[in-house]
Amino acid sequence: MERIKVGLVGFGTVGSSFYELIEKHKDRLKEQLGVEINITKVGVNNPRKHLNSLPAGVLLEGYEDILKDEKLPIIVELVGGVEKPLDLVSRALKAGKHVITANKALLSQHGDTLFRLARENGVELKFEASVGGGIPVIKVIRESLKGNEIESIMGILNGTTNFILTRMTEEKLTFKEALTEAQKLGFAEADPILDVEGVDAAQKISLLASISFRKWVDYREILCEGIGKVTKKDIEFAEYSGFVFKLIATAKMDKGRAVVTVFPALLPKSHPLASVREEYNGVLIKSDFLGTSMYLGRGAGGSATASSVASDLGDLIERIRMKALPDPVELSPIEKLELFPQGELSYKYFLHFVTDNKPGIWATVTGLLASNNINIESVQQKWEDPTKLSDLYILVDITKESFVRKAFREIVNSPGIHTESCFFRILED
Ligand SMILES: NC(=O)c1ccc[n+]([C@@H]2O[C@H](COP(=O)([O-])OP(=O)(O)OC[C@H]3O[C@@H](n4cnc5c(N)ncnc54)[C@H](OP(=O)(O)O)[C@@H]3O)[C@@H](O)[C@H]2O)c1
Repeated sequence: MERIKVGLVGFGTVGSSFYELIEKHKDRLKEQLGVEINITKVGVNNPRKHLNSLPAGVLLEGYEDILKDEKLPIIVELVGGVEKPLDLVSRALKAGKHVITANKALLSQHGDTLFRLARENGVELKFEASVGGGIPVIKVIRESLKGNEIESIMGILNGTTNFILTRMTEEKLTFKEALTEAQKLGFAEADPILDVEGVDAAQKISLLASISFRKWVDYREILCEGIGKVTKKDIEFAEYSGFVFKLIATAKMDKGRAVVTVFPALLPKSHPLASVREEYNGVLIKSDFLGTSMYLGRGAGGSATASSVASDLGDLIERIRMKALPDPVELSPIEKLELFPQGELSYKYFLHFVTDNKPGIWATVTGLLASNNINIESVQQKWEDPTKLSDLYILVDITKESFVRKAFREIVNSPGIHTESCFFRILED
């Protein structure tokens, strides 16, 4: 039976699970693919840590020997970070090796260059595990929906923030308490800033938008807000009004320009994504012939992510054996996609003003909303103790983002209104 040699770089959470999967399912994969997969080299940073986990002769320090090995047609990059993987992946592609990665940070920053390199060298760069962990969302967009035009994508793409918001909603925890619990359970990193500030979700939705709309979206240019400003009070008011807070990523085309966003949104409790709880991810894809379809599953973790890496490896081997390379989708030219101006976006909004407890505050707030052409749907004020600050909650009808930003600035600069005030967007469909 034919054998195919694979080089693996990284033997951490995902790398070790991927190795385990290939070993455990060797016979099954042989039957499915008609070849035997041999991971002959595994590069790590510190080999001493892994002496008991890998056979002698397989374990290596770094990745130079893997790059030099002409008998390795496929390299699996599971290192993390950007600098080293960029060096590894670009050199592997230039050497004519196919690469599989789970690294959304690498692809969202350097995908345009790396996909070009793959194209120029007639090899593939596969990346299913970079979005949605174990959910095969990239495969769905590229294969299952082949005959469809993708109209929109809406999803919960970050398990850490979904876990935090779930705990804040269901257990009434503060943001800090929920984050500490997420860290204890291994759902949040010691430094969770990329998750909490929405950057991880922005990188993922930009990748999904790029493959769906066939042009490059730079995640650094999209509207991106994290969950750091969401308080227990905001969640309580949302719940009382029939909504649930979720960090939502969206992508759609509007008159030739892309609307790609990440922000904490209020969803009606009946919305399909409202029931995606804990560290799970969920993605809704609307396409012209299928309509809306939903994909749900574990968005992170070693075994779920390894499952997607293995699926990429299986696909790649089948294509190598059929001599069907390279994949035309991966080879499409990468032009940049024009983004819809953020100020022109429009939503319904939930505004929360923290105010002094004195006469005239309502008049100031409602007056400034009216002068900015913003139509109020409902107002509620909460103050348990007249000597303390009060909370003014306002829901407003659909309006332009630029109007809300201007009105909010003017209101927060008015006497008696405090800077802890905030606003959030409502997504109804
Ligand atoms: N963890 C998840 O749930 C998850 C989910 C989706 C995607 N991903 C992505 O998967 C990738 C891997 O994540 P992970 O959580 O598995 O990371 P990890 O646990 O930190 O493992 C990183 C591995 O890379 C090795 N390494 C670091 N520098 C290296 C170098 N210069 N040469 C060779 N090996 C080197 C480390 O070696 P040592 O063991 O010797 O330190 C370690 O084995 C990342 O891109 C991440 O974004 C992860």
